[in-house]
Amino acid sequence: MPPMTLRECCIRALSVLLLVATPVTSRLACAQQQASGAAAIHQTAQGTNDIWWKHAVIYEIYPRSFQDSNGDGIGDLNGITSRLDYLKDLGVDAIWITPMYPSPQVDFGYDIAGYTAIDPQYGTMADFDHLVKEAKARDIRVIMDFVPNHTSDQHPWFIESRSSRTNPKRDWYIWRDGKGPSQPPNNWLSWFGHSAWKFDSKTGQFYYHHFYPEQPDLNWRNPEVRKAMYGVLRFWMDRGVAGFRLDAVSRLFEDPNLHDDPLLPGTNAYGDQNIEHKYTDNLPEVHEVLREIRQVVDEYPGNPVLISEADEPNISELTKMYGSKLDEIQLPMDFQVADVNQRCAACFRELINQIEDNPVGGQPYFFFNNHDQDRTWDRYGDGVHNDAIARLLATLLLTTRATPQLYYGEEIGMVTTPPARKEDVRDPIGKIGWPKEKGRDGERTPMQWDTSSNAGFTTSPTPWLPVPPSYKQRNVTVEEKDPDSLLNFYKQLILLRRNQPALRDGKQTMVNWHDADVLSYLRKNPDGGESVLVLLNMSNKSKKVALALKPQGITSNSAKPLLSYPSTTATIVRLDAILLPPFGTLVAAVK
Ligand code: GLC
Repeated sequence: MPPMTLRECCIRALSVLLLVATPVTSRLACAQQQASGAAAIHQTAQGTNDIWWKHAVIYEIYPRSFQDSNGDGIGDLNGITSRLDYLKDLGVDAIWITPMYPSPQVDFGYDIAGYTAIDPQYGTMADFDHLVKEAKARDIRVIMDFVPNHTSDQHPWFIESRSSRTNPKRDWYIWRDGKGPSQPPNNWLSWFGHSAWKFDSKTGQFYYHHFYPEQPDLNWRNPEVRKAMYGVLRFWMDRGVAGFRLDAVSRLFEDPNLHDDPLLPGTNAYGDQNIEHKYTDNLPEVHEVLREIRQVVDEYPGNPVLISEADEPNISELTKMYGSKLDEIQLPMDFQVADVNQRCAACFRELINQIEDNPVGGQPYFFFNNHDQDRTWDRYGDGVHNDAIARLLATLLLTTRATPQLYYGEEIGMVTTPPARKEDVRDPIGKIGWPKEKGRDGERTPMQWDTSSNAGFTTSPTPWLPVPPSYKQRNVTVEEKDPDSLLNFYKQLILLRRNQPALRDGKQTMVNWHDADVLSYLRKNPDGGESVLVLLNMSNKSKKVALALKPQGITSNSAKPLLSYPSTTATIVRLDAILLPPFGTLVAAVK
């Protein structure tokens, strides 16, 4: 029998989901066939000059919470290695690991006390090398978190810097005299609440910290700081990593004249008068440093990638991160799309078009979940149709032209589980801001692997954060066996993204422009073959959509479903009468 095409395979799988007539083994054979096809394409792509990060599916791992291998209740590097087969099976091309460098863990790793070592809580350098090697054997790249804005106050550089006003490393950080004995130099606020200046009695000056007081800001105007930090990048590139996610880069510089920030009405969650962070955010010098960082990683072969945390206020600011000659960040994270926080087709359409039309032409980078904000299950769900809404967002994430990033657990529908009591909070901002700000523990709970105690995350009776009660239903083992699970929906989407030329490389055009509820777009096959149409009903009503796609070069007036939710038995739908159930999703092939 000739092998099935991917589309035939998916249509068959869809009918199977509905009719439940084909045994599980056939479905597995179908999935395996798709997987081997995917691997072949992936290899071809890597063998050419393909820019891998344009097509990659990137998966963020919070190492503390992913998999514990030594029973101490904290995830670790060997734990990640032990789950690489799962990631491969999911279809992940690269993992971004949040910091696992030596750290007092005030900000759970984002307070770094040594940039070129591994915190013993997470393992050893040999464990790290083993992880990179095993990942490579599975065609999975490793992306490191680079935290350039600040170190820990326990970093040897800061210990030296604070030791005396004349220490050679004094100028590696931002030290200033106060306005008076206990008055900070100006009104700048820490992102994590209260003054951004901390008085150090030893030398009688204040130091600047954009985040916690235990995270003093480095002085990027000092050339020695730059040299040392570029050495850090080379250290990890030499160990075989594929690039970096740059933490908080827009905050690298502060106004040297220390102007007060303008006041805004109201107070923040910590009770401070609101301010506009005008003199500490997005100063023009940031771009000079981004260009330098890009030059450092570009010394290495294999198209290393830079991803930036770019929580910019609008798309025009976001696109500056690419650099005017595309010589800065390749993938600035798009927080605008992530944080629409409404089921609003028009809002997504507008934002996606804006980034698509960006004048420099950079590659968009979409994500919906990360370690700093509530999971989408809670931000986008309506409490009734959450399963459908999760599939809607997954489809949006994995079918546009943007490089997609997942956050561990979103593929199984993990929910935000904030601490119930202040005394249980681990994240310091939850302690300072309670109860208005409960901190970020809720989105960092352990990965839910199976139904065993603590969801298979650890053998310790006390994981560092409690496992949410939902783990009995929402876990990898249960969902792997259920063909209709969210996990299997993600897998099918990732396979489609990889194997459909239109989803891989196709131009993206919004269609059905004026529909307030249904977001519809076409990914046009670059080689004239099958194109892909995506329809996402963001409303709780059934919707009928009529499309005329002749102007887009689609001559047929019907489409063949590739994947949908709720699943459909139809093998063909008329373009002038597409029916979508509430929060319905349809991905279909058109010619
Ligand atoms: C980034 C990280 C966040 C951290 C902060 C300070 O925003 O994503 O987790 O707390 O930087 O390093």
